[in-house]
Amino acid sequence: MGNWKMNGSLASNQQLLEQLIASLGSAHSHSDVVVCAPYPYLAQLQQMLANSAVEWGAQNLSAEPQGAFTGEVSAQMLNDFACKWVLVGHSERRALYGETDADVLAKTQAALDAGITPVVCVGETESEQAAGQTENVILQQLQSILKLDSALLSRIVVAYEPVWAIGTGKSATPEQAQAVHAYIRQLLAQHNAPKVRILYGGSVNAANAADLFLMPDIDGALVGGASLQAADFLSIAAA
Ligand code: 13P
Repeated sequence: MGNWKMNGSLASNQQLLEQLIASLGSAHSHSDVVVCAPYPYLAQLQQMLANSAVEWGAQNLSAEPQGAFTGEVSAQMLNDFACKWVLVGHSERRALYGETDADVLAKTQAALDAGITPVVCVGETESEQAAGQTENVILQQLQSILKLDSALLSRIVVAYEPVWAIGTGKSATPEQAQAVHAYIRQLLAQHNAPKVRILYGGSVNAANAADLFLMPDIDGALVGGASLQAADFLSIAAA
């Protein structure tokens, strides 16, 4: 899954998507390949990707269904553009826009209500990791979501993105990531959702993806910078 963040233009998106389509074709492989774009480009994604093997989604949504919420975008609006996926609680939204765990829960529920798969992002900062707080932080971030009915919980995706690994070129090692994924798996299993997919994110690139994917509890990747380069994203998808 690519997270383009606040990057792209109509012209550069077209070029990137044409390369993805040319390489991946229209047949779905056993893996899902998804790009999450800024809102204004969702129409472009819908138009270009409708009959391709590439799925698309948004990077955020409102917890509210409609009304006086200037600048916000609802789950139903994402449905108008056939988004199957939406990121929720990315660390940049938590850190820069003050999203709380309660917001993340409400947004997760709004996405589920609309039939859109929420990709719930969690992860510790460098200082939290240094203080040995990683599992506590993850538990805190996931706690209320784990209380969802297990049929609903089974429909989410979790993305583990250690903040210290995002955009730094300093990916977690496969072993480091696996240890946290195993912990998340155990939490999900305790709540009858053992098969929820757990993605790793943080400086994933063409060179390190295959080793990460060898780990038993790493089910895929949430890719930032490398998802903006077709060749890099395609080689991660191939891995
Ligand atoms: P990078 O792959 O650029 O480190 O970004 C990761 C990320 O935040 C994806 O959501």
